[in-house]
Amino acid sequence: MVLRRTLLSAAGSERLRDVVEKVPVSRAVVSRFVPGRSAQDAVAAARRLVDDGLLVSLDHLGEDTVERAQAESVRDAYLHVLQRLGDDGLARSVEVSLKLSAVGQSLGADGEKVALEHAREVCALAAELGTTVTLDMEDHTTTDSTLSVLGELRVDFPDVGAVLQSYLRRTEGDCRDLAGAGSRVRLCKGAYQEPGSVAYQDRGEVDRSYVRCLKVLMAGQGYPMVATHDPRLVEIAGALAVRHGRAHGDYEYQMLYGIRPDEQRRLAAAGDLVRVYTPYGDEWWGYLVRRLAERPANLAFFLRAVATKG
Ligand code: FDA
Repeated sequence: MVLRRTLLSAAGSERLRDVVEKVPVSRAVVSRFVPGRSAQDAVAAARRLVDDGLLVSLDHLGEDTVERAQAESVRDAYLHVLQRLGDDGLARSVEVSLKLSAVGQSLGADGEKVALEHAREVCALAAELGTTVTLDMEDHTTTDSTLSVLGELRVDFPDVGAVLQSYLRRTEGDCRDLAGAGSRVRLCKGAYQEPGSVAYQDRGEVDRSYVRCLKVLMAGQGYPMVATHDPRLVEIAGALAVRHGRAHGDYEYQMLYGIRPDEQRRLAAAGDLVRVYTPYGDEWWGYLVRRLAERPANLAFFLRAVATKG
């Protein structure tokens, strides 16, 4: 827990990022979790995954945009990658994941409005190309704002997906609110450092909350997206789907690029839909640190690579 907290604070350290970036081998390690920096790298990675029978959600890395011009350039990056997916005939299998803070949510008083406008443009192009957008969920101070933007977007684009985090005490209630027909909800455990007043701190409690939320979503009319690498939760999701008469295409599993790739392919080979969340771009540091914080083995792998070859 202490290690996790320390690592999560490192997510904001630009100095540490610059040190890590200068070690050549660590770039190779980064590519295990982030397949590249450009839209071209992202589309090429998506193509490989789709050829392996997987679905993809592309995430242009970056969050907490502090300038309007930056928010516009993130929006443009999404429009660009969507267009490339369309041109390459990949839009049916590849959607995008969008962080509202990257397109303006944190810009102050009218940040939410700016983010909504930008997200609307991304959703419009995605709809035209025949694909979808899922709004990533960030720390708990943004949850209400993100759900409010989701509600606005769903008026015109009913298939915009939401993310709910089982570590938040409020989430079972949010699952009930979002379990209606056509509602796409990605359920994950949650990746940010949150206080005990709003979030369960004990891993067992987070897992039990995940199962309660999963029950609500699987029993509902929407489309559950089960985002976890946890073998127990994957098994429970499968059993709940059967219990609620859901066929393979009525829900999907989601995992992160580079994490349990064999399991991703095993599930897909068994007929399940599996979507691989694939981040790309220059802003890889915060994302990488969150992955290292989740699993000591990931951290050991990283440090070993840096120590032996760096
Ligand atoms: P956890 O990290 O507890 O791992 C459980 C078990 O999974 C481990 O004990 C091990 O058995 C197995 N496992 C995990 N990593 C492994 C590895 N590298 N190799 C082998 N086994 C491994 N968070 C957020 O706050 N907002 C968001 O929008 C999103 N979006 C999102 C999308 C998708 C598709 C995923 C998969 C995840 C997210 N997350 C997220 C991140 C999420 O909240 C969470 O931090 C991670 O998924 C890790 O949690 P797990 O459920 O995998 O369990």
